[in-house]
Amino acid sequence: MNVDAVMLGAVGGPKWDNVPRDVRPEAGLLKLRKEMDLFANLRPSTCMPALAAASSLKEEVVSGLDVMLVRELTAGTYFGQPRGMQMWEGKERCIDTQSYTVDEIERVVRAAFELAMKRSKKLHSVDKANVMETGVLWRRVATQVSVDFPDVELHHMYADNCAMQLVRWPKQFDVIVTDNLFGDILSDCAAMLSGSLGMLPSASLGAADSSGRRKAMYEPVHGSAPDIAGQSKANPLATILSFAMCLRYSFDMVEDADMLEAACANVLDAGYRTGDIMQPGMMLVSTQEMGEQVCLELDKLAA
Ligand code: IPM
Ligand code: MG
Repeated sequence: MNVDAVMLGAVGGPKWDNVPRDVRPEAGLLKLRKEMDLFANLRPSTCMPALAAASSLKEEVVSGLDVMLVRELTAGTYFGQPRGMQMWEGKERCIDTQSYTVDEIERVVRAAFELAMKRSKKLHSVDKANVMETGVLWRRVATQVSVDFPDVELHHMYADNCAMQLVRWPKQFDVIVTDNLFGDILSDCAAMLSGSLGMLPSASLGAADSSGRRKAMYEPVHGSAPDIAGQSKANPLATILSFAMCLRYSFDMVEDADMLEAACANVLDAGYRTGDIMQPGMMLVSTQEMGEQVCLELDKLAA
C-alpha cells in the first residue's frame, strides 16, 4: 500500500448482520490492520474535567484520568490458525486459536515501554498466565524486555483483575499493554471511564523504518452507531481527536495536535454537548454544530 497514514471512519451495521464474515466491513478493517502490519494500537482514555460528571462512575474516580492502553493488533485470537468449523466425533465444533510468537509479543511490549518512558514510567502488562500458555510467554517476554527499561516500573496483572481494577480505581494505571482480544475488551471498558465512547480516538502504528517513518491508521474507538445514523446526533469528537493523533504521530505536527485537542476541550468547557454526553444545563448540539464549534475555537487559538 502506497500511503503512510489512513484515517478510517467507523464501519459496520445491521445490514451486514447476515452476510458471511469475510465480506463484512469489519473484515476490511482487519485486513488493513494486518496488511499494514499495524501491531501497536494506542487507545488513550482521558477524562476531561468538564465531562467527569457524565461518567457512570463517581466523579472523583475518573476526573483527570489519563490512561493509555496499548493493544496488540495483528496476532492472537483474531488471526490465529487453525480456525473455523469442523466435524469432531460426528458433531460440529468451532475453533479459534490464540497464538503469539516471541517477536509478536516483544515488539508491542517494547512500544509500550517506550511510551511509558515518555509518560509516568509505569507499565501494567496484562495476561492470563494463570490459565493460558500464551499468557505465560507474554509474561516472560515482558519481563525480559523490562531489563532494557530499568526506569520503568513493570507490573503484571491478570486480565480479569484488570477489568475489575479499571472500574474500581482506574487512576492506578498509566500505560497498559495487552494482547488483541483482551485489549479489545479492556479498551471498551477503559473508554467508558471517559464519559462516552464517542470521545475516544485511537492510533495504530507499525514498525519504524530506517528513516523513522512508520505506517499508521487513525480511527475512533467507537463503532458506526447504526441506531443513530443520519440523524446528526453522533459525537464527532473521537474522529476529530483521531486526526489530532495523526498530526502528532504521522506528521510530527505536535503543536497543531495540541491545538486541536485544546479546541475540543474548550468547546466542552463552553458547554456544548452532543446527546451522548449531554448533562443538565448544557447546550445540546448536532454533529455538524459540534464540528463547527471546534473549527471556530481552532480559529481563535490559531489567531
Ligand atoms: C475495535 C472493534 C473491532 C475489533 C471490530 C469492529 C472488528 O471492536 O476496533 O475494537 O474487534 O477489533
Ligand atoms: Mg472493540
